[in-house]
Amino acid sequence: MNVSFSPTICENYLKSLDNIEDYKILREAANRMGVPSLEENACTALTNIVSIKRPEKSIDIGCGIGVSSYAILKGFPETNLTAIDSNLERGLFFQNHFKDYKNVAYYQMRGEQYLKTCDKTFDFAFIDSVKREYFNIWQLLRPKLNKNACVVFDDILIYGFVMAEEAETPYKYQTNRKEVQNFISHIFSDTSLNAQIIPVNGGLLVISLK
Ligand SMILES: C[S@@+](CC[C@H](N)C(=O)[O-])C[C@H]1O[C@@H](n2cnc3c(N)ncnc32)[C@H](O)[C@@H]1O
Repeated sequence: MNVSFSPTICENYLKSLDNIEDYKILREAANRMGVPSLEENACTALTNIVSIKRPEKSIDIGCGIGVSSYAILKGFPETNLTAIDSNLERGLFFQNHFKDYKNVAYYQMRGEQYLKTCDKTFDFAFIDSVKREYFNIWQLLRPKLNKNACVVFDDILIYGFVMAEEAETPYKYQTNRKEVQNFISHIFSDTSLNAQIIPVNGGLLVISLK
């Protein structure tokens, strides 16, 4: 029997399986404020990875209003989470929403700046900032990772354009596409890492240190 399905049908089916009620307040706030937030199926993947990893110390760079941070905390509520975003308005919402979490620290600054100055190390990192900055963030983050750490980068497929030819890519995505392609090649050629792209939503690049 031939079964035809598209990634969209698959995403919708996966989404229908999940209980997403607990994200209601954050999703409504994201809509109201018109801010991007991590999609449902990517949240589920993030929660599952964290629940398996059980990281003592985590970092969420580009935490926005906190959907990705919530997904991390759902996976392992005991993790000590450092959440970073450069946007003031999103940061104010984040700090209010997570004010009762004793294990969450928020910094309103660029992730690069935080990584250059912090003396912490991490067991898990989620990165969801500007995509062409991923390579630079990775280079700053790598020395801060503990043994067997795991890192997840969101939206690594750039709407699918990383798989397309340059001529098929709209001009505004061409720089991002090239930068992210270089980053992906760098990660997959590093023999000290296990890496996989999980094609949920915009694509998650999952890396673990051997
Ligand atoms: C796609 S949104 C993040 C959504 C968030 N992860 C969530 O699930 O709610 C990207 C965020 O990255 C932040 N950002 C972009 N570049 C950044 C940087 N270099 N350092 C820190 N935050 C950055 C933006 O302010 C924005 O809030």
